[in-house]
Amino acid sequence: MALVTSKEILVPARQKGYGVGAFNCVNLEYVRAVLDTAVALHSPVIIAVTPGAAKYSGWVGFPAAIRAMAQAASVPVCLHLDHGSSTEEVEKALRAGFTSVMIDASHLPLGENIALTRRVVEMAHAAGVSVEGELGEIGGQEEHVESAGVLTDPEAVPGFVEATGLDVLAASFGSVHQKAARDAVLDLERLERIARATFLPLVLHGGSGVPFPTVQQAIARGVAKINVGTELQRTFTRTLRETLSAHPAEWDVRKLLGPSVKALGQAVRERLEVFGSVDQA
Ligand code: 13P
Repeated sequence: MALVTSKEILVPARQKGYGVGAFNCVNLEYVRAVLDTAVALHSPVIIAVTPGAAKYSGWVGFPAAIRAMAQAASVPVCLHLDHGSSTEEVEKALRAGFTSVMIDASHLPLGENIALTRRVVEMAHAAGVSVEGELGEIGGQEEHVESAGVLTDPEAVPGFVEATGLDVLAASFGSVHQKAARDAVLDLERLERIARATFLPLVLHGGSGVPFPTVQQAIARGVAKINVGTELQRTFTRTLRETLSAHPAEWDVRKLLGPSVKALGQAVRERLEVFGSVDQA
């Protein structure tokens, strides 16, 4: 199936009331685990790559490999730049064949956030790529930015959507990036007001730290994309540590990484089931 934009995956998700996982991938082991699981469960999926991950695994080869793997998959796949911070990073992503970009200008004053997001929308739409922007600020650490968080003002949503022309909206209503425990408390009343202010698909960032029943309540209120990063990193690393200590003499990287890929696949499977995207491809 073709690589698609996030809009193509997320508009039906919001309309039909299910969520799509955007899984942060740092190398091809992650991509294999996410794609194989999405294919097995007939689920649309988003492969999210931060500028930091692209720098680590390569801005050219890594996206090219993901594109090739996605094109061979039997479900719709979006290749998404997560937390792009400048037009330069967005340009790199467009050159590399990403089908969706996020511009995170949420730490800037509102007028500057609108101007930068608008600029990225013009660049990306000219290339047939959809755009996610952020209004309010999601708390916690993401890439190099640490934020205490600013909740999204629902009354500012229509103006932001209109002025920027963006396709997908990341809003702040209580989730936090890189949480150690899955115990975030969301302001669901605020989310409802945000969802009433726009038909655009909404994004829940910091998906690792939100209890599963709460994620489902957020999906019922308009969230169509759930970002999951930290939990995958923890799963991969925890399993790798266990494998290394159980097999101290083993040196074959495939045997050492294989169990981590399997554990990632399980973590992804659990979330696709919770988000309700199984059999939606
Ligand atoms: P977590 O790492 O907390 O799951 O957040 C992921 C995210 O929101 C990426 O944009």
